[in-house]
Amino acid sequence: MADYPGYHIKYYLAEDTIDANDLSALADWLKTNPRITMGPLTKEFEAKWSSWLGQKYSIYCNSGSSANLLMYAALAALGRLSNRMIIVPSVGWVTTIAPAIQFGWEPIMCEADPDTFGLDLNHLEVLLRRHNPSTVIMVQVLGVPHKMNELLELKKRYGFFLLEDTCAAMGSSYHGQHVGTFGDMSSFSLFFGHQISTIEGGLVSTNNEELYNLMLMIRSHGWTKDLDTEKKEALLAKHKVDSFHHPFLFVLDGFNLRPTDDHAFLGIKQIDKMEWLIKRRMENHLLYKAILGKYFCVQKYEPDSVVCSISFGMLASSVAERKKIIEACRREGIETRMFSAGNLGLHPFWYERYGKFSAPMADRIHHCGLFLPNNPSLKTKDIEFISSVVLNATKEAQ
Ligand SMILES: Cc1ncc(COP(=O)(O)O)c(C=O)c1O
Repeated sequence: MADYPGYHIKYYLAEDTIDANDLSALADWLKTNPRITMGPLTKEFEAKWSSWLGQKYSIYCNSGSSANLLMYAALAALGRLSNRMIIVPSVGWVTTIAPAIQFGWEPIMCEADPDTFGLDLNHLEVLLRRHNPSTVIMVQVLGVPHKMNELLELKKRYGFFLLEDTCAAMGSSYHGQHVGTFGDMSSFSLFFGHQISTIEGGLVSTNNEELYNLMLMIRSHGWTKDLDTEKKEALLAKHKVDSFHHPFLFVLDGFNLRPTDDHAFLGIKQIDKMEWLIKRRMENHLLYKAILGKYFCVQKYEPDSVVCSISFGMLASSVAERKKIIEACRREGIETRMFSAGNLGLHPFWYERYGKFSAPMADRIHHCGLFLPNNPSLKTKDIEFISSVVLNATKEAQ
């Protein structure tokens, strides 16, 4: 990986969770000359992930962004939306929101919660009362589980569909329940450096069979081919088409978001490492929190949460202090970056359409937030060293 100009990186923000054994097993499998397009290994990976997560259905696709796209498209295809208004988070990722814009929905941005940095529930309730949106998309920010009891209470009271973007939070849990099991659908990213990786890749999980079947079609052009026989035949009968036209009956206006079986091969192996990866990432997170949490604003969560974070996020007390910390980290070869994408309402894709979204917490995360590395390979002494560099930099800033 290329270093940034002017400094040599010793502690990377993202490391590969695919190891030499995984690659060697993949090479052996490839030597058997298998068909590599989406096939039985994709199904096996989906079933293994559903079983690990505790959801009935999962769909593997080619990225976390595609997983978000699938959730939106399935919801639209379900045909039960009372309106096309959707509450979106200010802290998340552009592709948490992009499908709303692409599909011509009306996204309404919500402030970030001061504890978890997810949706601010007070602001959310104001928006729910004012707009009565059909849908809310939330992000489980950086592996820190959001206040799900309160959010689910609002869901019950206001009756919206909940999409759970768990793309950077796979493996975390809230009161013993895995994140990614709270929404009507939930998305996961398997990009390099995420909790587990298939190089690129994404998953959607759900307990809703109807949404699952819609996603099976939307992932592959909108055709019936990937449905089970009963569902296929029902659709052929409904549309009065003989079986010769199957599998090229396009029921929906879909996409091609398919993964391939070589990626699924890696995914199957990655799930075996989940418990170890969760443990290591959680240990590192707790150590950072113990050292840095006394001095900086860091995400807070319920005491029995499992936090499987891929970076440690913190807020400096000012823009100037963040600059000092970043400079000190660079001198010591510690890779840093902004906190996720900061406030999405301060990015051109948003403000060129809707004007700038500015709110105290989201703005603070944008201007003062940063990430520190949290990889499974980091040892206690590494976390202590990185933390000491951050703390010493703030002394310099005073
Ligand atoms: C919250 C969130 N949503 C969506 C994505 C997109 O995932 P991918 O990079 O796999 O497309 C990311 C990527 O980090 C993310 O953090």
